[in-house]
Amino acid sequence: MSTVFRKTISKALTTRPSHIANVASRCQPSPLNATRPFTNTTFLRKDEPKPPPDGADYTTGTNPGSSGDHEGQFARTDPSVVVEYPEEGDLPHSKPVHGRGGMHYKRTLASFTLENHVAIVTGGARGLGMIMAQGLIESGADVALVDLNLEEAQRSAAQLRETFKRENDPSDPPPKVTAHFADVADPDSVTSCIDDVVKAHGKVDVLVTSAGFTENFPAEQYPIDRMRKLWSVNVDGTYLFATGIARHLMERDAKGSIIFIGSMSGAIVNVPQPQAPYNAAKAAVRHLASSLAVEWAEKGIRVNCISPGYMLTALTQKILDDNPDLHKKWTSLIPVGKMGRP
Ligand SMILES: NC(=O)c1ccc[n+]([C@@H]2O[C@H](COP(=O)([O-])OP(=O)(O)OC[C@H]3O[C@@H](n4cnc5c(N)ncnc54)[C@H](O)[C@@H]3O)[C@@H](O)[C@H]2O)c1
Repeated sequence: MSTVFRKTISKALTTRPSHIANVASRCQPSPLNATRPFTNTTFLRKDEPKPPPDGADYTTGTNPGSSGDHEGQFARTDPSVVVEYPEEGDLPHSKPVHGRGGMHYKRTLASFTLENHVAIVTGGARGLGMIMAQGLIESGADVALVDLNLEEAQRSAAQLRETFKRENDPSDPPPKVTAHFADVADPDSVTSCIDDVVKAHGKVDVLVTSAGFTENFPAEQYPIDRMRKLWSVNVDGTYLFATGIARHLMERDAKGSIIFIGSMSGAIVNVPQPQAPYNAAKAAVRHLASSLAVEWAEKGIRVNCISPGYMLTALTQKILDDNPDLHKKWTSLIPVGKMGRP
C-alpha cells in the first residue's frame, strides 16, 4: 500500500463519525460475533406458537392449507392412479412411420452413415424401439429386433422391410431386419439371444435398449414382486445387454455405440401418477450409462442415454385409456403443451 493511501486511511480513522466507529468495531472478529446468529430460523414443532399474522402465508412457517386449497396441487402424486402393466394381448400393435423415412438424397456427413453396421434394438417389436429401429434402417443399418414377444417382433420386422421397399428406390439394397426372442431380465436368455443375432448378422456394432415398462402404485402399496420385476427389466435388462454387447465388441477389438433409453423420470418426479420404483430405475439407467461410458471409453465403446419425455406409445396410451384426466394434467406440465409422437 502506498504511503499516500496509508496516510488518508489513518486520517479517516482518527476523524471517523461515531456510527462508522460502531460498524468498524462490530466487524472486528471477537469470540462473541464469530458465530453467525440464526435468529430467523422458523420452528416447526407442533407446540410452537403460530407465526405472526403479518408473516407470508405461503412459507413453510405456516400450517398446511393456510394459503388455500391449491397448495401443491400441480406437484403431488395422486394415490388413486393405479396402473398395472397390461397383458400382451391388451396392447395395440405399432406401425412404422410413413413419409418421414424414405428417399432423401440430401447431403449429410459421411460419418453419420450406418451402412455396414448391425444394430440390436431391445423392445424393438413396438413403440419407441420399433421407430428407432426404422431410423437406424433409414440410416443404412441392418437391424435385429429383440423382444419378449417374438411374434410381434416378427410382424414388425416384416413391416419395416415392406415400408423400406415402398419408400425407397427399388435399386437400393434392402436392409436385413430380423426378429429374435429374449427376456432381457434373464442372463441366459440375453446370452443366447446375442449368439443368435451374431449368427444371423455376423456381428453387432450398435445397441439400443428400449425394453422397459412402467406401472403406477403408491409406493407404500407397491407389490414387492412387481417392483422387482420392474427393476429387473429396466435396470438388469439394460445392464445385461450392454455388458453382453461390450464383451462381443471387445472380443472383436471393434468400436461400438450403446444407447440406453432412459426417461425424464430418471431426473424429475412425474405427477400425478405415483411411480417411485420406475423413477429410481430410470435414474439407475442414466447413471449406468455415465459409468459404463467412463469404463469403456478407452475401448472405443460409446455409451449414451436418451431420456424421452411423454411419448404417445402403446404404454402411455394404456395409461391414458385407464385415466383420461391424466392427459390434461400431463400436457399442462409440458412447456410445448404436447406429448411426443414417435
Ligand atoms: N412412452 C413414453 O412416454 C416413454 C417416455 C420415457 C421413456 N420411455 C421408455 O422407453 C422404452 C420403450 O417404451 P414404449 O413406450 O415404446 O413401450 P412399449 O410397451 O410400446 O414397448 C416396449 C417393448 O419392450 C418389450 N419388453 C417388455 N419387457 C421385456 C423383456 N423382459 N424382455 C424383452 N422385451 C421386453 C415389450 O414387449 C415391448 O415390445 C421403455 O424403456 C420406457 O420406459 C417411454
